[in-house]
Parts: sequence; structure tokens; C-alpha cells
Amino acid sequence: MRILQAASEFFPYSKTGGLADMVAGLSGALAKNHEVTVATPLYRGIREQFPDLETIGDEFDLPLGNAEFTGRWWCHQPSPNLTVLLLENDAFYNRPGLYMEHGEGYLDNPERFIFFSKAVARLSPDFDVTHLHDWQTAIVAMLLKEGTGKGTTRMIFSIHNLAYQGSCDPDRFALTNLSPKLFHSRGPKHFGNLNFMKTGLHYADAITTVSPQYAREILTEEFGEGLSGELLKRQDRLTGILNGVDYAEWRTQGNPHLAAEYDVDNLSGKATCKKHLMKIFGLPDEGLPLLAVVSRLAEQKGIGQMVEALTELLPDNRFQFVLLGSGDEALEEMLLQLRAKFPNRVGVEIGYDQSLSHKIEAGADFFLMPSRFEPCGLNQLYSLRYGTIPIVHAVGGLKDSITDFSQAKGNGIRYDRFEVPQLMVAVQRALKMFCDDQGMGVARERGMRQDFSWPKAADQYLQIYRA
Ligand code: ADP
Ligand code: GLC
Repeated sequence: MRILQAASEFFPYSKTGGLADMVAGLSGALAKNHEVTVATPLYRGIREQFPDLETIGDEFDLPLGNAEFTGRWWCHQPSPNLTVLLLENDAFYNRPGLYMEHGEGYLDNPERFIFFSKAVARLSPDFDVTHLHDWQTAIVAMLLKEGTGKGTTRMIFSIHNLAYQGSCDPDRFALTNLSPKLFHSRGPKHFGNLNFMKTGLHYADAITTVSPQYAREILTEEFGEGLSGELLKRQDRLTGILNGVDYAEWRTQGNPHLAAEYDVDNLSGKATCKKHLMKIFGLPDEGLPLLAVVSRLAEQKGIGQMVEALTELLPDNRFQFVLLGSGDEALEEMLLQLRAKFPNRVGVEIGYDQSLSHKIEAGADFFLMPSRFEPCGLNQLYSLRYGTIPIVHAVGGLKDSITDFSQAKGNGIRYDRFEVPQLMVAVQRALKMFCDDQGMGVARERGMRQDFSWPKAADQYLQIYRA
């Protein structure tokens, strides 16, 4: 099968979150038996990181309303069946951020991603399946069904996060160069605005999301972000598939980011990784349990609630905490204040650092994911493989992948309600658990032996591609 993936980020070329890892993992698994092409923008820095990129085809012009913009595809072939096409337009993509700077989204994001979607739509007719990811590529489905190249490819739309919908002024619909008659509330129009996400939901042949639990949650008003009605209409086309892990990247042996190697049969290297991590954060090593977070700092992630819980618990001097993250400036400030208040207990690094994220996964004892909602979540899966015990709010993919230790085959600590006292109890359970060496060993081993690798999930996608 010839498969086209279209995504606004793709690891290792670009990444702000789990989307990049998911598209990379899925594409890699599919490319074992199929011909896979991934289309993604050529952002700043990619050319320097991959000097062997080559142009493919000629430059082309695409209209956005009355204006014309020029694009060109650059090609990279990381493995025999996997081709990466990177869309060049420096005015749109050669910028410091992928979507935003200083916490503010680029005002021309609709232009940037309609241009990208138009370039993808030109490629689609050559493929059996076009798999679109999140709002940035959602309108490809409409461009193909309502424009040229009608119905030549099956279109799958994956929701990675319903909270980001690409909602913008209705006048931006003119950028699609489609008939204004198509802008109605059974399609792209939502509460008067142009809504990319809703457009994808309306036009795709099949809709997926990144965990079975999130697929159920988004049908409710609480998690539907104003689109539960639209999703209910298309419920028969909606499937939840839990993301996999690329264990070639997320590994504890031969991993250049880690200070020492370890595996399930010999965890001594993990202690070295912990010592190294404490040094990086300048924390004294007092043999206390180390809790950690690596996260985008967004409301979704429950960071405010977590700071409240930690502020209550830290004065007892029973654990240390490190965090790597960036995003919302108010949350960044809150975390820096927490560090200032508990300098020997708390380490905070504001920024984005792939290498440090590995070091944290390996060096921590417990990994906190107190998300208000979480479509899938990847860090809890990485934590399991790194022998780091996840503490999660049971929601979305966290609920699908983590079972509480109180249950048979439990692999983590889970709490049910998104409330500070529940999170505090979960942390206290972790601290108690840390005192039981044997219990910790069993728990770590159980997580490390679990297998969330991609081939099984990729097969589920293939069934949907073929349906
Ligand atoms: P989301 O996609 O909602 O951010 P996921 O758990 O699916 O959440 O994926 C997050 C991914 O992004 C993980 O691979 C995580 O390690 C990475 N990540 C998030 N913030 C940072 C950061 N500041 N530095 C490095 N990696 C980060
Ligand atoms: C989104 C979600 C996250 C998911 C990721 C990859 O960013 O917030 O839960 O793991 O996409 O699918």
C-alpha cells in the first residue's frame, strides 16, 4: 500500500510534543511492509541538521485567496520504504517557533497551514491512503473532496488533541479558494468561525484518536471541547488506538543521552543516572525519592494543581522534584517560585531539551502526569520502559495504559478525580512505596517488561486504511 502521512511535526526533524513521536513511530512501523511518505514543513534548523536533503520536482505556486505563494519539496530518505518530504517556504516556516513565539500563536497560522494543506492535497492522488494529523492538516480532506482530485485517496483524520482546533476568523475561508457556499455549519463553520478540526471531522472517511478511552471521553460535553455533537454524528467512523513507543529511540541501553546503561536484569546503572541528574539540577543527593515531570506547560497538564500539592508536601523534606518544561509564562513563573522556595528540594529547567528529557526519564524514581485530560500521553509509556514509576490521573490514554498497583498486574499509581487532595495521596503512596526496596524492584521490573511497541497499533491503523 502507498501511504501518505501529513503532519505539522515529525521526529527527529521537528518536535514540540507527542505528535512528532507518534507520526515517526507509526510511519516507521508501517514502512516495514508498505511504502510510506511523510509530508511536513521545512522549519528553521532542519536543513542544518540534515545537510543531505535534496530538492524534488520544481517550485510551484499555490493561491491563498488573491495572493500566490511559492513552495518546493525537499526530500530525505531515512530508510528504504520511508520518504520524508519537507515543504519549503521560508516566509512561512523559517521562524524561531513551529506555531508560536513567547507563548503567542503566529497570527498567520491559518495561512501557513492552508498553504501546507494545499501542497499536501497536490500529492494525495498518488497514494492509496492519506493520513492527516490534527487541525494543521485537517482541511486536506475538504480540499480533495470539494476541489480537484476528488475521491482518489482514502482519507483518515487523527485527533491528537481536541483542545487545539485551529479556529479563526470566517474571512480566512477565502484562502481555500473554494466556493463560499461550502462555508456552512454542517461543514467548516463553527460558532461563526472557520474551524479546521471540525472540517476534518466532517470530511474524513475515517476518524481516529490516540486512545480508546479518549475516543469515549470526547463524545461527552466535558471533554468534547464544543465538538462532541459533531463527533457523535460521526461516532460510527471513530476509533481509538493507543499510541505505541519507538523503543529504538526510548531505550536504556546504548542510549547516548544517558550517563550509564541499565536493563531489567541489572538496574545499577539507573542509580548512576539518578546521581548524574541530581548534579545537573544542582540538588544535594540525600537518598530521597526523586519525582519528575517533562511537559509542555499548558493548562491541560494539571501543572497548577501539581504545584499546589507539592507546596503542601515539600516542607516535610521527604522527596525531591525536578521538572523540564516550557510554555505558559504564568506556569513557568509559578514553577520558578517553587524552586526559589525549596532550593534544595526542587530543580526546574525552563526550556525544551530532548537529551535532558531522556536523562530525567532514566534518573527519576517516579514520573508525575497529573493531566486534566490526556488524549494518549507518551511519557508514562517511556517511564515504564525506564523503570520509573508513573503517577497519573486516570484519564484518556493514562487510564488505558496505567493500572493501579492495588490491582492485579498494576504498573503505576493512579487516582480517579482531578483534585489536589487525591494527587497528594498518590504522592504519599509513592513515598511509602520507595521505602520498600523489594516492592520497588518488583514494580520497576513489571513496567520494564511491558511492551507498547508500534507493530500492533500499526496493524490497527492498516485495518482502517483498508476498510
Ligand atoms: P503532548 O503531546 O500533549 O505534549 P505527550 O506525553 O504525548 O504529550 O508527549 C510529549 C512529548 O514531548 C514527550 O516525548 C516529552 O518528552 C516531550 N517533551 C515535552 N516537553 C518537553 C521539553 N520541555 N523538553 C523535551 N521534551 C519535551
Ligand atoms: C497530543 C496529546 C498527547 C498525545 C500526543 C500524541 O499532543 O496531548 O496526549 O500523546 O498528541 O498522539
